Amino acid sequence: MALRVLLTRRLPSSVIDTLKQHAEVDVYEGTDAMPRTELIARIADKQGVLTCITDRVDDEFLDAAPHLKVIGNFGVGYNHIDVPAARKRGVVVTNTPDVLTDATAELTWAMILDVARRVSEGDRLIRRGGWAGWRPDFLLGTELRGKQLGIVGFGRIGRAVAEKAGAFGMTVAYSGRRGAKAAGVSFPARQVSFDELLVSSDVLTIHTPLTPETTHLFDKRAFARMKRTAFLVNTSRGQVVDEAAVAWALGERLIAGAALDVFENEPQVHPGLLAFENVVLVPHLGSATRETRTAMADLAARNMIAVLSGQPPLTPIP
Ligand code: 8YV
Repeated sequence: MALRVLLTRRLPSSVIDTLKQHAEVDVYEGTDAMPRTELIARIADKQGVLTCITDRVDDEFLDAAPHLKVIGNFGVGYNHIDVPAARKRGVVVTNTPDVLTDATAELTWAMILDVARRVSEGDRLIRRGGWAGWRPDFLLGTELRGKQLGIVGFGRIGRAVAEKAGAFGMTVAYSGRRGAKAAGVSFPARQVSFDELLVSSDVLTIHTPLTPETTHLFDKRAFARMKRTAFLVNTSRGQVVDEAAVAWALGERLIAGAALDVFENEPQVHPGLLAFENVVLVPHLGSATRETRTAMADLAARNMIAVLSGQPPLTPIP
């Protein structure tokens, strides 16, 4: 039987052409996520599938795909995939680490600078005709030099963000499983407890995967521990932060602001957040550069080709 692969999203044509050398390729051409019923129907005869964050892979999905051998996830995070359920059926699951590290770290810095220097707030003000001219005390922000960057999760992306802190004169502290030495970093970074990170950081940026332990790690209690002058930045997964608690913390002025790239129920955003000028809202753009999305597609495809040709995958989910 010919190998068949389903792509739940359109990929660059060069990547599709490569895949076509190994399998029949069925591409969903819609702009939005594949409707669930269509996904379930079209997966039935496939040995490989490229999934995205918008595709839930659970028992129902896997039961509908009796020939499936490999899930090439387009993205590093895989909380939308029931990996044990896939493994139980002998399905290999792969993701796309490394290729999106720099893009995500760059966006994180864009968001840190934006919320600290009120860039989006100023943009909104100009657009609504609210700029009356220069004033010495107008839209004053917070300088980063001499401040502490607190990193929650010291994996690839957390470390790439930390690496750039020196350029802004910030010190780095982090909480997470790995020590800086073990992680092989050459710049100064202090490992502290999560609680110490909360109370001592001027900017807190989240780079931890979503797990039962990290779900709502940032809740009312965490916000109450943060400095009132501190900013929260999240480019990991929305569910790590209790969005209602962010709105509460901003309303109580417990934190100075937040910059969020990910949300609990995307594309919904907690309506309480929309009222605050000191919140930067970004529509899940962490890896969204032309270079990185092409590299992600390429890696996801190469993972699928490897497994379908009987080779070990390049980047299996550990
Ligand atoms: C993707 C991401 O945009 O890699 C991840 O975990 O969140 C993003 O880079 C998304 O997952 C695409 O499926």
